[in-house]
Amino acid sequence: MAAVSAAASKTRAQRMAWWTDARFGMFVHWGLYAQLGRHEWVMNRERIPVPDYEKLADTWKPTPRPAREWAKLAKAAGMKYMVMTTKHHEGFCLWDTEQTDYNAVRRGPGRDLVREYVEACREFGLKIGFYYSLMDWHHPDGADCAHHEKARRRFVEFTHGCVRELCSNYGHIDIIWYDVAWPLATPELWESRRLNRMVRSLQPHILINNRSLLPEDFGTPEEHIKAENKGRAWEACMTFNGSWGYLPYGAESDWRSTREVIGMLRTATAGQGNLLLNIGPKPDGSVPAEAYPRLQAVGQWLERNHEAVYGQVDRADRFEWMPLGQWTRRGNTAYFWCSRWPGREIAIGGFHGKVIRASVLGDTTPVTVEQKGERLLLRGLPAPCPDTIAAIAVIKLECASEPRQELGAGCVML
Ligand code: GLC
Repeated sequence: MAAVSAAASKTRAQRMAWWTDARFGMFVHWGLYAQLGRHEWVMNRERIPVPDYEKLADTWKPTPRPAREWAKLAKAAGMKYMVMTTKHHEGFCLWDTEQTDYNAVRRGPGRDLVREYVEACREFGLKIGFYYSLMDWHHPDGADCAHHEKARRRFVEFTHGCVRELCSNYGHIDIIWYDVAWPLATPELWESRRLNRMVRSLQPHILINNRSLLPEDFGTPEEHIKAENKGRAWEACMTFNGSWGYLPYGAESDWRSTREVIGMLRTATAGQGNLLLNIGPKPDGSVPAEAYPRLQAVGQWLERNHEAVYGQVDRADRFEWMPLGQWTRRGNTAYFWCSRWPGREIAIGGFHGKVIRASVLGDTTPVTVEQKGERLLLRGLPAPCPDTIAAIAVIKLECASEPRQELGAGCVML
């Protein structure tokens, strides 16, 4: 039994290897709601009657192949994968489905938007994720399924049918990302085990998130970045401007800055997690202008600092908070992400581990190291912060053993 589960977990680690290395992905929320520009929950929050909302299915006329623009931007931002809403809570299917006529091929767009997305991901070398909302405000059984067994059976067959198509008609798919299991409260009612068995039989390598009410491959903290228990993979999904769907009625300052995004990447890396950052394209499919400079700058920053971010990292939980920055770690190397650059010298207290070499990523200035007991002094650093993109420069400390830091509230008496 133990041998079987060891073999099974090895398979999971192997399946997840690319994802664990990837660190950074793009979430895309796109659907009929983009036309209203008032959040993807607009149908529910404004109690728009189904027949009124349905009209949006015919007025939606996106320009050809906008997914290329998203994928190009994701690539430039240093992202390694994408996850797109194939059907959000509104129930409109963006692919060519046999399960309902309420889909992008038979209504306004007149074409398979999921296929365009898949092709764009492949063109730009990005892994492909499908978001699928279990909750459905449009399907006649979408709410009734909680009260009538016949409706539940019909709705479960519809759901399984949709997912089967997504896993059958688009070649190799890397991630299934379920969302909101309302109104059925248990995996038994959704028949999630059967659903995911089917998914894995069609796409054996696929990764599945935890929102079909089964833990599966990874957890999905939302709008906050929090590491799961050790050994459990996780991915934080974050909006860019407070809404998943296109929402133009805000202030420029609603958008997370380049610095914030880099900070989120740091938190994710330190906890061995991933960051899935969202864009909500406009109805025509174009990316909101605010996302561009920010994502491009993040990509430039990553070009210089990639080694502190991507790949297999260790948890950086044996480090302390510092006023000038925070940590990530890989084996015997600690990376100090300095977001408040003080000038030529930096002192770090409570540092355990002999530093063999210190350097600033992307910078050739030689840094001298002095270690007096647990006090680490770095000298000869470049005077102004060497990072002109986000004023976050990463100091790399290569050590003879696994470094750690320990500080109490006391001070050294000399
Ligand atoms: C929530 C929201 C949904 C969004 C999702 C992303 O579950 O209901 O609109 O798609 O978060 O994680």
